[in-house]
Amino acid sequence: MAGSRGALVVFIALVLLGAVSAGFYDDYKIIWGAQNVAANDALGEVKLSMTENIGASFATKDPYLYGAFSVKYKLVPGNSAGTVTAFYLHSDDARQDEIDFEFLGNSSGEPYLMHTNIFVNGKGGREAQFFLWFDPTADFHNYTIVWNQKQVIWLVDDVPVRVHRNIHPSLYPRTKPMYVHGTLFEASTWATRKGAVPIDWTQAPFQVNYRDFTYRACKVYNGNTLNCRMNVHQNPWERPEFQSLSTYQKQQLRNVRAKYMTYDYCTDKTRYTSPPMECSANAMAWAL
Ligand SMILES: *[C@@H]1O[C@H](CO)[C@@H](O)[C@H](O)[C@H]1NC(C)=O
Ligand SMILES: *[C@@H]1O[C@H](CO)[C@@H](O)[C@H](O)[C@H]1NC(C)=O
Repeated sequence: MAGSRGALVVFIALVLLGAVSAGFYDDYKIIWGAQNVAANDALGEVKLSMTENIGASFATKDPYLYGAFSVKYKLVPGNSAGTVTAFYLHSDDARQDEIDFEFLGNSSGEPYLMHTNIFVNGKGGREAQFFLWFDPTADFHNYTIVWNQKQVIWLVDDVPVRVHRNIHPSLYPRTKPMYVHGTLFEASTWATRKGAVPIDWTQAPFQVNYRDFTYRACKVYNGNTLNCRMNVHQNPWERPEFQSLSTYQKQQLRNVRAKYMTYDYCTDKTRYTSPPMECSANAMAWAL
């Protein structure tokens, strides 16, 4: 009896906590384009829109150091050429650490390009691009960044598409907490076929929907990162299953690379005469 009453109290407390923390504006701040952000807390959904040159951008109020970050979204449908939708972690300083998912729009019926990158101390240049195996404008799909002390994994609907291993402190984001950002912006000059297809404003407003933000991550309070760097084994995102890929995940990643990858900086000899240092370690992560 006492046990079940205890359980009931816990249950009510959880419901209350959920109700209190459910509001978008409790957890996020607007960076720009407030007039283009529509949060629907009942659906757990946020709609960003873009009209004549003004998109929208929001970010978490708090930064995190390591974690697993997921969001579901449904991208701008129809002629989305010149638009970019992004979900990314960013340390919000000048020489930033950053981990990106960016979706470059396209003319009606043409595929979106999914662009990924990772910056350490302001240095990026580690792009990988993919087509998706589904129409990302037709329905919501789940995009996840897992960031732990061993590696960063980018996942789409639970399928790992990219891994960046921690092989050296100067080549890995490991000290700066990052904010989670969601942005819709115009990039006519480069996004679609290197700028050949600019945005068509007669199609505006362009709209993208985000939902189901789920972060299992270490929140940094008052700039004190020690707890997040030390509590390695207690943290779910540091579990063995996130420190290396399973045999099945390796197979999934190899399949994505073979069928859907359109660009990999590691094999771009015009930019890097010999591949950057992390490339061979990364390749080991999905090797047979
Ligand atoms: C999204 O994917 C992550 C990682 O694969 C998973 O843990 C999470 O449960 C998924 N979220 C939803 C809402 O499906
Ligand atoms: C748009 O579609 C074209 C034609 O299928 C494709 O070559 C291109 O990579 C796609 N993505 C972008 C961002 O241009």
